[in-house]
Amino acid sequence: MKIGLIGCGNIGKELALYIDSSEFFELAFINDVNENSIDELISSLKNKPMITDIDHLIKNSDVIIESASQEVVKKLFDYDLKNKKILIMSSGGLINLDYKNILKNNELFIPTGAISGLDSLKAVSNLIESLELITTKPSKSLGLENKEKQIIFEGNVEEAVKQFPQNINVAATLKLATNFDPKITIISDPEIKTNKHEIIAKGIFGKLHLITENKPSKNPKTSYLAILSAIQCLKNIENNFRVGC
Ligand SMILES: NC(=O)c1ccc[n+]([C@@H]2O[C@H](COP(=O)([O-])OP(=O)(O)OC[C@H]3O[C@@H](n4cnc5c(N)ncnc54)[C@H](O)[C@@H]3O)[C@@H](O)[C@H]2O)c1
Repeated sequence: MKIGLIGCGNIGKELALYIDSSEFFELAFINDVNENSIDELISSLKNKPMITDIDHLIKNSDVIIESASQEVVKKLFDYDLKNKKILIMSSGGLINLDYKNILKNNELFIPTGAISGLDSLKAVSNLIESLELITTKPSKSLGLENKEKQIIFEGNVEEAVKQFPQNINVAATLKLATNFDPKITIISDPEIKTNKHEIIAKGIFGKLHLITENKPSKNPKTSYLAILSAIQCLKNIENNFRVGC
């Protein structure tokens, strides 16, 4: 299966390494606005993909991976995506897009990302009465220099992904999975060493309290788990035995 990768940064590079070692997938095309990202990625691979523009990449790939930005996500859906599998990392870009039009003869995959428990949250989604996400990140990864722990955002998903486009895709993924607009709190903590996401869902099913404490990847804004969850998403495409889906 031919893969086209848009965004060859931190996540893109790790996904490319996985694909390079896969017998099922072939990394056929890559695209990035930054030549250094492309050079670094190509030099780490055994099988070299073609560097190409987005039009050519989309037309000729079976699977399109977006690991670039919310803007790229919005642009993607201007193309003919018939019969394509599309894996989206910048899930914030999907907020406010028209799904009925997007999902025609194609498949959209949004990895769990840096959170956990989406399987249970999906199972109870019609019964959720309250849903909250509290994200605590190291101040430096948010570009802040506060000396004390500080709440820097409280609001809904739409505002969160607008104000923190590179930091809070998990909020968008949570909303997309549950179809419920969670209350989002973002805390900047100068002491914390992990990217911590705490989800609290309540309803007649009881209470789900899901805490994930992530080590950052090479990009401090991106948790290592987000990369692993995208690799798992590719494995799900590849395998027909799926537990906990
Ligand atoms: N779903 C999640 O849980 C989750 C977790 C972490 C990161 N993300 C998102 O995934 C995306 C990638 O994260 P990353 O850590 O790899 O970031 P990164 O900055 O390391 O890499 C992004 C790459 O995309 C390229 N790029 C940017 N705009 C582009 C464009 N218009 N066309 C082509 N290439 C473009 C950049 O040059 C860069 O090489 C980000 O949007 C990030 O917010 C999602």
